[in-house]
Amino acid sequence: EVTMNKNFFITTPIYYASGDLHLGHCCTTVYADVIARFKRLEGYNVKFLTGADEHGQKVEDNAKKLGISPQEFVDSLDVKFKDIWNLLNISYTDYIRTTDEKHVKTVQNIFTKLYEQGDIYKGEYEGLYCVPCESFFTPSQLVDGKCPDCGREVKTTKEEAYFFRLSKYQSRLIEYYNTHPDFIRLESTKKEMINSFFKTGLQDLCVSRSSFSWGVKVPFDEKHVVYVWVDALINYLSALGYSTQNNQDFVNFWPADLQLMAKEIVRFHVIVWPALLMSLNIPLPKQIHAHGWLTMAGKKMGKSLGNGFNPYVLTKRYGVDAVRYFILHDGPIMGDAPYDNESFIKRINSDLCNELGNLQSRTLAMIEQYFNGNLTLEENLIQNEFDKDLWQTILNAPESVKKYINSIDLNLAIGEVWKIVRRANKYIDETTPWKLKEDQPRLNLVLTNLCYSLFAVGVLLQAFLPNVADKILNSLHVSLKDRKLENINSNFNLNLTNISKTQNLFNRLDVKTELEFLLTDKGETKLEAKPKEVKEEPKPEIEFSDFSKIELKVGKIIKSEKVENADKLLKFSVDLGNEVRTIVSGVANYYTPEQMLNQSVVVVTNLKPKKIRGIESHGMIIYAESDKTICFVTPSKDMPSGSGVY
Ligand code: MSP
Repeated sequence: EVTMNKNFFITTPIYYASGDLHLGHCCTTVYADVIARFKRLEGYNVKFLTGADEHGQKVEDNAKKLGISPQEFVDSLDVKFKDIWNLLNISYTDYIRTTDEKHVKTVQNIFTKLYEQGDIYKGEYEGLYCVPCESFFTPSQLVDGKCPDCGREVKTTKEEAYFFRLSKYQSRLIEYYNTHPDFIRLESTKKEMINSFFKTGLQDLCVSRSSFSWGVKVPFDEKHVVYVWVDALINYLSALGYSTQNNQDFVNFWPADLQLMAKEIVRFHVIVWPALLMSLNIPLPKQIHAHGWLTMAGKKMGKSLGNGFNPYVLTKRYGVDAVRYFILHDGPIMGDAPYDNESFIKRINSDLCNELGNLQSRTLAMIEQYFNGNLTLEENLIQNEFDKDLWQTILNAPESVKKYINSIDLNLAIGEVWKIVRRANKYIDETTPWKLKEDQPRLNLVLTNLCYSLFAVGVLLQAFLPNVADKILNSLHVSLKDRKLENINSNFNLNLTNISKTQNLFNRLDVKTELEFLLTDKGETKLEAKPKEVKEEPKPEIEFSDFSKIELKVGKIIKSEKVENADKLLKFSVDLGNEVRTIVSGVANYYTPEQMLNQSVVVVTNLKPKKIRGIESHGMIIYAESDKTICFVTPSKDMPSGSGVY
């Protein structure tokens, strides 16, 4: 199968910018990130889209409570959302906000088109509306007279409105499900949809609101704003430039390969969304998959219930790997899954500290102790039954991981990596290296095989726990270009010299202390949002001769990566035509390494080099900054690297 340069497009829902994110939200992004990263390892050219859902009554109401404008409110959350995704190592390549101009335009273009072709018409709506969920329900959908999603009161609401002819698509939708068995990944999800929504017949969908104004205006009737769900769903197209002149991404990446979400919003994605696409005559996404809920005390973790758990606190204290591991291993990928502090802490101690951490530290320590850090490479790595069994586990892993990634069984996928970890730990017990001092060649071989196990674990973990994967691969001095799936085999040459014990990957936690900490500082979600103020004094006038002391050039970023233990920094290799410079830049809160790759930027090239976190940074990339965000400055058309800027 040739995957090199093949495109893969994966999306998460866009997150409501009505309050802070909680740990439940992080499940979808972490799952999508793992798949995106694995596909990159396989050689795909991956587009990974996420973003923020910034319109709607709830946003308007929450901004009002804080006494700021809705735009200020969503801008302040934008910074916080990106902070969390950055902290969690989410490698998105595209980020859409529904207040982005290009998104608003696309929504308006689509709304007008569907109106003109008669799929949207004007009527009157009366229904039961849940404000926090932005959803209308029919009486039969209510649970005990309350919203079926959040359990709150619903209000009878009546208004003049536009409708989308959803009913017209009922038979085409069912036909589509039946002829495309992969479209909805789970048979159970499909059955549930058909039972609860199609049995009674699909109703036309109310797609505009006039009771509040924070939304995309209906272009030909400005009293109305577009229903927030229709607005939001269109993000998957607007992010690709659909309906604009700059639609190259749409041509290259649509239809999406996988659209992920949790189960409560799957009905929008398998009914409303495909019907809109059919109406636009656009192919449907290849696959929609819904995972379960992270629960707390038996209920969906969520803002409406006020039981949201702050991912920031957990990540800051326990590290990104611990949070990602918990979400992957214990999270709701298959069905609902509970979160509780004790299981979380114990999971770190057992799987991460005892199993993975120990494997690495024991292996490195023995190499240092018995061979002064230098192993000699053996021709034949498989000499007895133990070696053979270990290697079988190593060699099986890449294919099994791939299989489970493709079936979105991510807990099983990471479990395949742990099979190597466990097999290798067992190998240490079986081979008892500390008793092999008399047999140096055998001891050398055993430790070499342990390094190959760690190498395989490191390469595979790049998709799941990229931070710890880097640490493992760095400790074995594996170059970036060698961190490939196809190198997981006994013919690949690992250069095992100068090996020394590194810092522990994970430290053992005292359960009692941590439980107390989490009880007092669990960082419950709060509505707090104040945009940062930037005030700048005007600078004094300068002569042209002062200005001309600054040398500016166009450069192209050819390598882009995070800086370890520095949340805000990215490290770039910038091609300046006749040389490549290393430049460190404080933009990690606004750009992922992936987004900066291949970008043309403007560089101050004659700035004195400076050491930043031990890295010599030579030059500075120019950015524009507002009180909300920053962006790098780029030439408005293709310019060769090294061109002067004046
Ligand atoms: N804005 C809509 C999506 C529009 S997409 C066109 C929305 N946003 S959300 O912020 O509420 O949810 C974002 C993602 O987080 C969804 O996949 C949602 O299902 C997921 N989760 C929110 N709470 C969750 C849990 N407690 N557990 C697991 N996933 C959860 O819905």
